[in-house]
Amino acid sequence: MKKKILELVKKKNKQKIVSLTSYSKNVSSILDKYCDVILVGDSLGSVLYNYKSTKEVTLDIMIEHSKSARLGIKKALMVVDMPHNTYRNTKEALKNAKEIMLKTKCDAVKLEGGKKIYEIIKTLIKNQIPVMGHLGLLPQSDMNFMSKGKKKSERDRIMKDSQLLEKAGVFSIVLECVETSLAKLVTQNIKVPTIGIGSSKYCDGQILVFDDFIGLNPVNYKFVKKYSNIRNNISKAVLNYVKEVKQIKFPSKKNSY
Ligand code: KIV
Repeated sequence: MKKKILELVKKKNKQKIVSLTSYSKNVSSILDKYCDVILVGDSLGSVLYNYKSTKEVTLDIMIEHSKSARLGIKKALMVVDMPHNTYRNTKEALKNAKEIMLKTKCDAVKLEGGKKIYEIIKTLIKNQIPVMGHLGLLPQSDMNFMSKGKKKSERDRIMKDSQLLEKAGVFSIVLECVETSLAKLVTQNIKVPTIGIGSSKYCDGQILVFDDFIGLNPVNYKFVKKYSNIRNNISKAVLNYVKEVKQIKFPSKKNSY
């Protein structure tokens, strides 16, 4: 296992893991100083491109944004989402994961699912491609975007899937919108860290989508806490700019050649 990944795994039960998404150089260069993990998530499909779902995100889009994000990352562990329909079988997954690793110089890839992709994950890991798992709400395949773990069948499946992913060799698992007591149980039951989004304080770490966290994305999901209201700041700046342009205060001598 790579040193950076080992260090992350060792944080379990000692220190909370902090992560955020980034789709670009300028953002990741700020996050790098503070975050253990920076994820180039396929959430960029809805956040940046206004796609109806992440299903429309392509490998090329992921690679281009990841190349940009990479430029700002020196310290953090960089993980890239494998988009929908790029890991339908072992051969396809291996080819695409290798392309992502090679072109983006990321440290690991993330795949959504459990039992169904067990063999695929095992193959990637056997080929020295570190994998982060993703259970709970799976935006690439779920029809209903509800929290997971209220029904017994759902709880049993998520529990079993987390054990399978661990057995396959993932170095951590994102738990998305998993009910509190189940997230706690999964976290206590596996040796690799869980990283929660909408999955309670009991996970070993937390992740948020950057644009939600910063208040740039005008959405109000229950699991998002907006740590800034950047939309207001941008509005104020634009208003000021409009005023100064109209009053011929900008550009001043200082801003002119
Ligand atoms: O795509 C993404 O940003 C993600 C996070 C929500 C974990 O998978």
